[in-house]
Amino acid sequence: MTSALASLRLHPADSIVILTGAGISKESGLDTFRCAVGIWSQVDLEDVATPQGFARDPDLVHRFYNDRRRGLHDPAIRPNAAHVALAGLERRWKGSVLIVTQNIDDLHERAGSTRLLHMHGELLKAFCQHCRTVVDCHGDLSVHDHCLTCGRKGGMRPDVVWFGEMPYHMERIQQALADCDLFVSIGTSGNVYPAAGFVAEARAGGAHTVELNLEPSEGASHFHGAVHGPATEVVPAFVRDLLALV
Ligand code: APR
Repeated sequence: MTSALASLRLHPADSIVILTGAGISKESGLDTFRCAVGIWSQVDLEDVATPQGFARDPDLVHRFYNDRRRGLHDPAIRPNAAHVALAGLERRWKGSVLIVTQNIDDLHERAGSTRLLHMHGELLKAFCQHCRTVVDCHGDLSVHDHCLTCGRKGGMRPDVVWFGEMPYHMERIQQALADCDLFVSIGTSGNVYPAAGFVAEARAGGAHTVELNLEPSEGASHFHGAVHGPATEVVPAFVRDLLALV
């Protein structure tokens, strides 16, 4: 039993909210953002992850996300033991399990999770800035693409939430945080709001809060408990302990 759960009383019908970040996909081969060799050390986020950057140089932004989309289609990129353990928790837990992910990859879905909200959007979707229609997107995007719904050119962009934009599903997320009994944060540095504030919201609603991360995050002191280590080790062990509690 991890010390993060040692004093916890959970009931079979209790509800769990799990926030995930780039760290959970690291051992699947996808880069995180803020480590020494992370994505934001290779490109300027102002250029590729803001509406202003897209307006300035849409070709650059399309190249950045096209490369990442191709990376996601690499057969070597697969869900790891942490994604699989969370999908197993959803299947076996009698109460509700909701994953709120900051990740734009599809590894939770591929592992079998079905109750999942992508608060920062999805790499495998695009939308038209003119008519807001969202479509599946598995190939490259370019400024020459026409929207299949409104027919206009130049407005297609990745369905990814950029800095300065409102994350998706916030009402549902805030309700789930207020109602949950256990909040678990996995593989996120706690640098980016509103996700970084979820632990405080869950605590305010009375939830027990646990961080599972390679190292203490920025917000580590806000959690009741923590287990530090690689996600593929600490997440399956934590899920085993949780299922043994009830
Ligand atoms: N297992 C668990 N945690 C890990 C692992 C691992 N194998 N590898 C790295 N980590 C941890 C790091 O220690 C770090 O605390 O994952 C965290 C990743 O942090 P970030 O790179 O900041 O990623 P994230 O928190 O998801 O970023 C939030 O920032 O730029 C935006 O939109 C982007 O959704 C992203 C948001």
